[in-house]
Amino acid sequence: MKTIGVLTSGGDAPGMNAAIRAVVRTGAYNDIRTLGIMRGFHGLIRDEIQELDMSAVGDILHRGGTILRTARSEEFKTEAGMQKAIGVIKKHGIEGIVVIGGDGSFRGARDLTRLGVPTVGLPGTIDNDIACTDYTIGFSTAVNTVIDAINKLRDTASSHDRISIVEVMGRNAGDIALYSGIAGGAESIIVPELPFDVDEICKRIIQGRNRGKQHNIIVLAEGVVLNKEISGTIEVGKEIEAKTGLEVKVTILGHIQRGGSPTAFDRILASSMGARAVELLKQGIGNRVVGIRDNHIVDFEIEEALSMKRSFNQNLYQLAQILSM
Ligand code: F6P
Repeated sequence: MKTIGVLTSGGDAPGMNAAIRAVVRTGAYNDIRTLGIMRGFHGLIRDEIQELDMSAVGDILHRGGTILRTARSEEFKTEAGMQKAIGVIKKHGIEGIVVIGGDGSFRGARDLTRLGVPTVGLPGTIDNDIACTDYTIGFSTAVNTVIDAINKLRDTASSHDRISIVEVMGRNAGDIALYSGIAGGAESIIVPELPFDVDEICKRIIQGRNRGKQHNIIVLAEGVVLNKEISGTIEVGKEIEAKTGLEVKVTILGHIQRGGSPTAFDRILASSMGARAVELLKQGIGNRVVGIRDNHIVDFEIEEALSMKRSFNQNLYQLAQILSM
């Protein structure tokens, strides 16, 4: 293999640049040229390709976002879009592709492999919602961003004897809420994977106050399906305020969780995964997704990876319950 392509797709995640750098530099080490495909599959169809040499990926290891930009492409899912993409791939002599993104991006990687272009997926998303890997690229950084926010919110919540509700991202997954809730010492963590009871949360708040607690932090994942009476995080806040008689402030952290310099963990994860992707392509192997399991870099067939069921870490959730008593 002499020429490979790399693209980022779906929501950006801190550490994507570290992965791009690892692909380019592992490629160069193996005499493989890397072409950067701009704006994911959208840019692939539109022939937005530029060569990435060693210096093109200098000074990006520590930067959030993605130098390749990213996009979500509906056109790529159509037969016509796919054929356009194949035309561009042939035109540039691209023999293999690394796709950095989430589940949706892996389906694109599988389809390209079926059409004769070996493609390897790397899990890049802050949500940590990809079953074949213990951690996704960007998750650690997002959790640290949330912890930083919790630390600040606790300062002001204590000063005013308030309850602070922090809504975090994660799409349908509660991992950002769970990990940041534990690490940030939240009293309650509300996730989509488990039912929750506002009365129980209020009871714990009152118990804490009776013991002299000055503040309460509640981390709520955006994917939590609320009920008819409570339609959003602001509503949850109002309900808790009414039931406890304490003042509640709601903070929706939003896209701040997607940016920032990647943590050491994300940089190392992205570097190791990027290198594995190139090693696979070098052997002409495609249709794989790379992951980390029990601290080892692993890879799976894409279909198998997509069919795996995510498991929520109940033990960690129980621990959070105990520690926040
Ligand atoms: O998948 C990453 C993520 O940040 C989710 O946590 C969130 O639900 C979604 O993307 C937001 O998407 P957008 O950037 O399109 O607003």
